[in-house]
Amino acid sequence: MTIHGISPDVLAALEHLLGQGGVAADPANMAKYLVDWSGDHHGAALAVLKPASIAEVQAAVRLCGRLGLAMIPQGGNTGLVAGAIDIGTSHGAVIISLERLNRIRLVDADNFILQADAGCILQHIKDAAEEQDCLFPLALGAQGSCQIGGNAASNAGGVNVLRYGMARDVIVGLEVVLTDGELWSGFSGLRKDNRGYDLKQLFIGAEGTLGIITGVEVKLFPKPGRVETAYLGLPSFEAAIALFRQARRGCSDLMCAFEIIGAECMELARLVDPSIVAPVTAPVHVLIELSSSAAIDLRSLLVNFLAGTMEEELVTDAVLAESGAQAKAFWAIREGLVEGQAKRGYHVRTDLSVRISDIPTLITQARDFIALEHPGWISQAYGHAGDGNIHFNVLPPLDLAEPDARSRGTAITAGLYDITNALGGSISAEHGIGRTRQSVYWAGMSAVHRRLVGTLKDALDPDRRMNPGCLFPATETFS
Ligand code: FAD
Ligand code: LAC
Ligand code: ZN
Repeated sequence: MTIHGISPDVLAALEHLLGQGGVAADPANMAKYLVDWSGDHHGAALAVLKPASIAEVQAAVRLCGRLGLAMIPQGGNTGLVAGAIDIGTSHGAVIISLERLNRIRLVDADNFILQADAGCILQHIKDAAEEQDCLFPLALGAQGSCQIGGNAASNAGGVNVLRYGMARDVIVGLEVVLTDGELWSGFSGLRKDNRGYDLKQLFIGAEGTLGIITGVEVKLFPKPGRVETAYLGLPSFEAAIALFRQARRGCSDLMCAFEIIGAECMELARLVDPSIVAPVTAPVHVLIELSSSAAIDLRSLLVNFLAGTMEEELVTDAVLAESGAQAKAFWAIREGLVEGQAKRGYHVRTDLSVRISDIPTLITQARDFIALEHPGWISQAYGHAGDGNIHFNVLPPLDLAEPDARSRGTAITAGLYDITNALGGSISAEHGIGRTRQSVYWAGMSAVHRRLVGTLKDALDPDRRMNPGCLFPATETFS
């Protein structure tokens, strides 16, 4: 992609503001900010700005305003929908990376609150909480690289949503630099605050289109001292959903994860670690986890629950983790398959949700569609089934040239979206819209919905400088 280069005057003004370490404008130093995690999307930018304080974020936003530059906020760049890189829709913008704003400001275990700069890596926040015998429950495969600001901006989900909710549910306060450079601080330390509009919710899930998040205040929970993890084999996705229904009641509210993995995904996990062996032999695998901070005998609860489901032949095989290391090995399968897909190369990646009871229908219809209309392509179904969220991904035949695979991939994605829509589902359960889903999102919106979101955008970003082409069309009247 070609964009107009940055002029020496503009570069000098940016460097004057942020120092040389705060600006990258040459291809080598910008490279890592211009490609997404999977290597699927390559973008362009005039420069990458790396403010190291809130005041620098404000000054950078004001300067970009004066210079007429569009801005793309970027966290860990692990998003899967090209929200943090310009893949050809913004006509030249600067990336504002939050990576140097990375201080944990407060861990208040008495009030179960943590405050952090937006650029803090999620794993560091989880570790800081754990040091105080607390849990920050947001958990996803990218947690070693994604930032809490990116989690807030994308309203991240992950494997513990079942028990603790999405990012939106565990954030109590935000701090945001608005498009005119003013700072809005919504930190209060309060868990309940019902004074009028809940403004933070506007920015959560806004994918950097309304302002730049500089700080996040989150809820902590007691650290679960007891955790039980089991890897199960089942005959079908129908059985998996029947199991989930029973587990919801049988395991009380102690269940924190219920992940489904089609057996076909194992091969992908082995691309990352060839020594991985499936703990069970069955067409459908389920990874279930219970946890508690209280002295509850989770082991007996899980063993008794599973015994009943095995008697009914709902579950055909079950392996309970005997150690933390074995539980980690189970999770490595779940994480490895995602990495393996990326390692294999371009593939169709989706993030669908339907009513939980419709999951088997979704998977059957999607698999039939691929087998009939796109023979040779390989279906992969896995995901956070307890949330009705399935990542139905499709791998191209290895001998298909990438340009051909990409164009066929567009048709496959459209077909999968049709199936999901017919079931009343969502084409984005947790990854957001970004640029890759922008047009389908916009086209599927009712006029009134479009008017409401357009009104918000026009009010908060009247000059359309914030992340153009992400969520909203790059050009077009909104409201
Ligand atoms: P980025 O990718 O940098 O940005 C994401 C969006 O937020 C962009 O639109 C960007 O402009 C905006 N943004 C970033 N920082 C800010 C800020 N400070 N202020 C304003 N806007 C900002 N997602 C899930 O929901 N569930 C999963 O289970 C999950 N698993 C994943 C596993 C892997 C291996 C990978 C690679 C990704 C996974 N993701 C998952 C997607 C991704 O990790 C999340 O969406 C994550 O929240 C993105 O955070 P980030 O810091 O990398 O944000
Ligand atoms: C996962 C990501 C891809 O669930 O959302 O692994
Ligand atoms: Zn997911």
